[in-house]
Amino acid sequence: MRCDLTPAWKNLQHHAQSFAGFDLRTAFAADVQRADTLSLQAPHVFADLSKNHVDAATEALLQELARQTGLASHRDAMFRGEAINHTEGRAVMHWLLRQPEGSLGGDLAEPLALVHGTLKPMLAYAETIRADAQITDVVNIGIGGSDLGPQMAVLALQDFVIPGKRFHFVSNVDGHELASVLKGLKAENTLFLIASKTFTTIETMTNARSALQWFQAQGGTDVARHFAALTTNVAAAAEFGITTTFGFWDWVGGRYSMWSAIGLPVAIAIGAQGFNDLLAGAHAMDQYFQIAPLEANLPVRLGLLDVWYRNFLNYTSRSIAPYHSALRRVPAYLQQLEMESNGKRVDRNGQALPYGTSPVLWGEPGTNGQHAYFQMLHQGTDVVPLEFIAVKKPTHSLKDHHELLLANVIAQAQALMLGKADQGGHKHFTGNRPSTFLLLDELTPASLGALIALQEHRVFVSGSVWGINSFDQWGVELGKVLAKDIHARIVSGDVAGLDGSTAALLARIR
Ligand code: F6P
Repeated sequence: MRCDLTPAWKNLQHHAQSFAGFDLRTAFAADVQRADTLSLQAPHVFADLSKNHVDAATEALLQELARQTGLASHRDAMFRGEAINHTEGRAVMHWLLRQPEGSLGGDLAEPLALVHGTLKPMLAYAETIRADAQITDVVNIGIGGSDLGPQMAVLALQDFVIPGKRFHFVSNVDGHELASVLKGLKAENTLFLIASKTFTTIETMTNARSALQWFQAQGGTDVARHFAALTTNVAAAAEFGITTTFGFWDWVGGRYSMWSAIGLPVAIAIGAQGFNDLLAGAHAMDQYFQIAPLEANLPVRLGLLDVWYRNFLNYTSRSIAPYHSALRRVPAYLQQLEMESNGKRVDRNGQALPYGTSPVLWGEPGTNGQHAYFQMLHQGTDVVPLEFIAVKKPTHSLKDHHELLLANVIAQAQALMLGKADQGGHKHFTGNRPSTFLLLDELTPASLGALIALQEHRVFVSGSVWGINSFDQWGVELGKVLAKDIHARIVSGDVAGLDGSTAALLARIR
């Protein structure tokens, strides 16, 4: 049943009205167990949800909503490999990429064998490149899911990255990006990875062509050694002239693909063992998501919290604050994950929805954000739930830094909640501002894998309750088509049939 037609939805609407006077400070004063009751330990990730605008009744009603919208059976359908991405007629099996070899039977045995049949040569190749001292620079050319995941992970795991190799990520069709990377490279020392699920994306194809021309202009001849393609479209890669290819399958969505061949830069950076640990961390979260009771299941609780905030308390955005500089690309990664998955305005039958879906996701690492936009979070007119991500153990030995970093993240969560009274107004903090606190013991391949899989599944949960298809992305198509038309017009100067603004801009640009 569509979520807004369930009894739980109506009950949540009533509950939200009676909840208007909810105050976190009062809630903590009334219940000394609150932090305990609203904390959860998932694989590698501890979560304190207690500073959120929820009470026991909210949690119970959200659980009812999950039951009445069939969340568990939808989840199980994904893990059975059913074609739940119905607008593209595809299964959704990124989780299979982290499933141990030979661990599934039935219809899933064959795709799982394919996964490991590809993973092994890919990891062997990664090890060859790691051992190849002549290759000092690895350039990943890809965009969206073929860029954000590997880029985020290589940065996050910088302490595990092999010394002596540099990793570059080129995504934008803006030639300034590729040109500035190429400036510092030598053909004989460079490996280009052309990462594109479809091998048709205009940005990636344009950058790949320019990289190949640059390579040949530098005297490079051995394309098989210096170019590899990571794609589901092996034929297109071959036509392009790339024969070293690592494949994956249409049942891996672009934004869910860092566990596939798209993860090759990560595997080169951290090695086969590291990549296997990343997969194992994510797999632990997959199992937990399937097995843990819904009321004690972190991805379920986070996804339902997202629905509560978006649809009942009208909080339209979520800010991500990783308090670890190596996690600085996590907000951008999560932005695609959430907003491309759940930024949908129709239900699974194509009917317009009368309720909101994806929140706006944004953020920067702490403590930087504190000296920039946190002002608005503390004293602005809108309530923005914040998601802190902190790591207990540092990997450096610089004195004082990590204690100060952790003191700041805890203090921010506290300040948002407690506020501060002041007569004059300007110095008044209302407090009662909600936040979630995610804590990893250490930042390792395994804990990163678990953290990202957690986020994938929480996006699944809210998308499932909203009754949308979280696994297509038709909304990106129109701009691609129009850009082709405008590109031709920039060349020809033809403005016939264009609206006044577009025609004027085009004339100005030419
Ligand atoms: O334009 C959006 C998109 O299709 C994303 O979903 C995807 O991650 C990105 O483009 C890149 O696509 P590809 O990997 O096929 O080049």
